[in-house]
Amino acid sequence: MRILFLSTEADPFAKSGGLGDVIGSLPRELKDQGIDARVMLPLYKSIKQKYIKDMKFISDFSVDLAWRNIYCGLFEIEYDGVTFYFLDNEYYFYRDNYYGYFDDGERFAYFSKAVLSSLGVLDFKPEILHCNEWQTALIPVYLKTLLKDDPNYNTIKTVFTIHNIEYQGRFDKNLLSDILGLSEEFRNLITYNNDINFMKGAIVTCDKLTTVSPTYAEEITYSFYGRGLEEIIKENQYKLKGILNGIDTKLYDPEKDKTLAANYAINNSKNKEMNKKDLQKNLGLKIDSSIPIFAIVGRMVEHKGIDMIINIFEELMNEKIQVVVLGTGMKEYEDFFKKKAYDYGDRMNTVIGFSSELATKIYAGSDFFLMPSISEPCGLAQMIALRYGTIPIVRETGGLKDSISAFSPENGIGNGITFKSINSQDLLGAVKRAIKFYWNKDNWHVLIKNALKSDFSWKQSTKEYMSMYEEIY
Ligand code: GLC
Repeated sequence: MRILFLSTEADPFAKSGGLGDVIGSLPRELKDQGIDARVMLPLYKSIKQKYIKDMKFISDFSVDLAWRNIYCGLFEIEYDGVTFYFLDNEYYFYRDNYYGYFDDGERFAYFSKAVLSSLGVLDFKPEILHCNEWQTALIPVYLKTLLKDDPNYNTIKTVFTIHNIEYQGRFDKNLLSDILGLSEEFRNLITYNNDINFMKGAIVTCDKLTTVSPTYAEEITYSFYGRGLEEIIKENQYKLKGILNGIDTKLYDPEKDKTLAANYAINNSKNKEMNKKDLQKNLGLKIDSSIPIFAIVGRMVEHKGIDMIINIFEELMNEKIQVVVLGTGMKEYEDFFKKKAYDYGDRMNTVIGFSSELATKIYAGSDFFLMPSISEPCGLAQMIALRYGTIPIVRETGGLKDSISAFSPENGIGNGITFKSINSQDLLGAVKRAIKFYWNKDNWHVLIKNALKSDFSWKQSTKEYMSMYEEIY
């Protein structure tokens, strides 16, 4: 089976969040199962030179975008056994960031068109195009409109994966003919609430629709999570499936990870303490391995539930704990955590920015991982935290609900601490429960063991993807 993944991120070439992790690991897992999975991405300015220099030029061709006729170069590299293709157009992709430009609609319409045109020159003939997020959503749309009678294309099947329904690719209605090159007869297909909505177009036209956890697949049929697309999701629920993401367990491995102060595994989890002291030392916290460290790592945006943390912050700090924060996002959140780090001196440190090395040190050196998201399609951080024996405190939503089960001291089952409502007092209750478990050494040992035993490898999910591909193949 030949599958081409289309995405705007794939680790290690381009990554701003979980999408990069997923596309950096799932194709390789499928490959290990005998599927010829490859990946195609834009050739960004920020891709490291060491990869660029190993890329092989395959061909160039031109891409029609409404009245435009635009250059596209095609490059190839093999990484970790997987073939990655890159589409080159400096005007669209030689920019400092991946997203956030006035012409993003045009940039990714171009990318989608270029992907389809590239199939004409590639010696790889994919049977399934697996598209991810709104930036690649026009691919199934074009296949079902402009290309529906083209024998080179009309047997190709599509999967569209929603990693986060908050980002839909909504643009002015004038985009239709001037940029997308679609005639009026297709306006309805891709319009929602008077806007051109790329994601809506893909939901309607793809052969299979997936999202990144079973709970999120259910949640996006409700208005609270569906962000306006809930009715469209419901109409297409017959082809929707939620498949939980996995993590790269080789990349995140406390037994082998070279960034750690000391390696550890389930039978010598004592070594985790050395990572804690190392973290305290590096971040200027009081070195005392008896104090529980709470970590917050990730994008500082509203749906991560940061407001709940802010609401209870003083009460949280009344406990004998330390706090470590790493991430970027909304300025008011960044400022809040910076100010608190200043106020609390050697009990707290905030690093604004992102460093995967520091992130790993935090996963390994902390005791608790706070992730009270309002919505969370899957979430990978809670899985990585568990892998390093750090206990997630999460709200029961999306992938958090599907990966974290509440610890019960009575029967010793459960790998984290959970709460239900979007309510800061409930979060505080969860934190207090967590601290109680921490100080009860019997509970704590069981909880850490349960965390380290949790399996979030891709094994199960790869099987689910494969059986879904089989259904349309
Ligand atoms: C998005 C979601 C996150 C998910 C990731 C990978 O970033 O917000 O929950 O884990 O995509 O699918």
